[in-house]
Amino acid sequence: MDREQAGAVLGTHACEEIDNWIAKFPEGKQRAASIAALRIVQHENAGHLNVELMDAVGAYLGMEPIAVYEVASFYSMLETEPVGRHSISVCTNISCMLCGGEDILAHIERKLGIRVGESTADGRIFLKCEEECLAACSEAPMMMVDHVYHTQLTPGRVDEILDALE
Ligand code: FES
Repeated sequence: MDREQAGAVLGTHACEEIDNWIAKFPEGKQRAASIAALRIVQHENAGHLNVELMDAVGAYLGMEPIAVYEVASFYSMLETEPVGRHSISVCTNISCMLCGGEDILAHIERKLGIRVGESTADGRIFLKCEEECLAACSEAPMMMVDHVYHTQLTPGRVDEILDALE
């Protein structure tokens, strides 16, 4: 796939966004935009990547496909399989654990009828792997929903947050 073909796969809007990121880096260092490019493409593909899209990002940035796969599989905010459209990450590291983070996670699993790593059958919610600390320890317990932090959680507050997700 050449760069023009990659652009056709990615679409005009995604390419414009990726070009903005490429412009932030020195000439010839466009691979530095790979994380941002993958996030843009993921966002425009219902929250996940696939091989065709990753290959297109690689061709657009002049990277070998394997280098793109390595980025996509390393960073936890990138999904390489279809998942629910709302992503939830519950922190269960030490501060959150001491403040009930594991109970919060168990409450969510019971409420949604899924386990960590699964999505609800209606495709509404993806319960991601437990996070190792999202740097909001003083506000524990906490979770991240679609990259927004929710802190000092209680089961009741969790219900409000989840019930508001469409
Ligand atoms: S331990 Fe949960 S945010 Fe740090």
